[in-house]
Amino acid sequence: MIEQERDAFIERLLKSAGGVFDIFSIYIGDRLGYYRALAGGWLTSVELASQTGTNERYAREWLEQQTVNGIIEVEDDRADAESRRFRLPESRAEVLVERDSLNYLAPLAQLVVGVTRPLEQLVDAYRTGKGVPYNNYGRDLVEGQGGINRATFLQEIGSSWLPSIPDLHARLQADPAARVADFGCGVGWSSIGIARAYPKVLVDGYDLDSPSIEAANANAHDMNVSDCVKFHVRDAGDPALAGQYDLVAAFECIHDMSNPVAALQTMRRLARDRGTVLVVDERVGDTFTAKGNDVEWIMYGWSVLHCLPVGMEEKPSVGTGTVMRADTLRRYAKDAGFRDVEVLPIENFFFRAYRLMA
Ligand SMILES: C[S@@+](CC[C@H](N)C(=O)[O-])C[C@H]1O[C@@H](n2cnc3c(N)ncnc32)[C@H](O)[C@@H]1O
Repeated sequence: MIEQERDAFIERLLKSAGGVFDIFSIYIGDRLGYYRALAGGWLTSVELASQTGTNERYAREWLEQQTVNGIIEVEDDRADAESRRFRLPESRAEVLVERDSLNYLAPLAQLVVGVTRPLEQLVDAYRTGKGVPYNNYGRDLVEGQGGINRATFLQEIGSSWLPSIPDLHARLQADPAARVADFGCGVGWSSIGIARAYPKVLVDGYDLDSPSIEAANANAHDMNVSDCVKFHVRDAGDPALAGQYDLVAAFECIHDMSNPVAALQTMRRLARDRGTVLVVDERVGDTFTAKGNDVEWIMYGWSVLHCLPVGMEEKPSVGTGTVMRADTLRRYAKDAGFRDVEVLPIENFFFRAYRLMA
């Protein structure tokens, strides 16, 4: 019995190592434009290397690795190495190349690479209790975070998430122009998604991280919404933040904050009496159980490598981590002066939406 369990565990670890190699090699293929090129049809390693401006020997090794791991397909594996032709099947292309698809997952690889960047500091943080600054995770984390939520935010926020609050949905379409504040907006896709869904609104996106705000400005420009979406480098907990908004939102960021109550107090203040306060965060279970579920398996992964350490950087910190359960948010909301928290009926595998009632 023990031997069987041991062998199953060994098998699982070997598969996990294979999974890690998948993720890192997907990162390489994505960065170098290999998947995009292979989605166009059959290519030899010479053709792939020439189309992407890369080295043939490396391209060939990557092609063989990607075939053996089942991501791409080979036309005839008995052909000479230099004349073998490879392509990316359509089912994989949607996931690895189609940026607008809700099934686009290439940024997952970028995120995983990003969260492993400050590994030495992370190990040290576990010893000392210090945090790891968000900046130290670098460009891959910021871009990967934006990319993984981009399609969902551009498509779902305006088509189903905000319409699930009918009075807000109506207000966002009405005159005078409604005002929206988006805290922890990262590279801005939620702000941009709201502005595109509701062309009359004026959106202010706030984030502590300047590289994210720089990217958010570029994204708003590319999406032609710079006139109605403005981004600002600000701490959500800053008591000097003022204004009056019809919607104050925070997408996937409250659990990253060292002082979430201060951020929620700002949100409450800026919504005044009539504004809606919306928090979208991870769809984790109500309590910790040994069994967990697939969502928590992934969420605890982000947490041990990234969300908890970034949240521990500023002191004092409540140390939330990615797995912010509904009751934890309820407690933060109560401490920030909210009366109640309602879970909105949105359908999403990873996210849950909470409306905080003043
Ligand atoms: C996981 S990212 C989410 C970004 C974006 N909302 C999204 O869903 O893609 C968390 C973001 O919260 C920001 N953040 C963390 N603490 C903050 C604070 N106190 N004030 C403003 N932004 C903060 C980080 O800089 C980061 O961009």
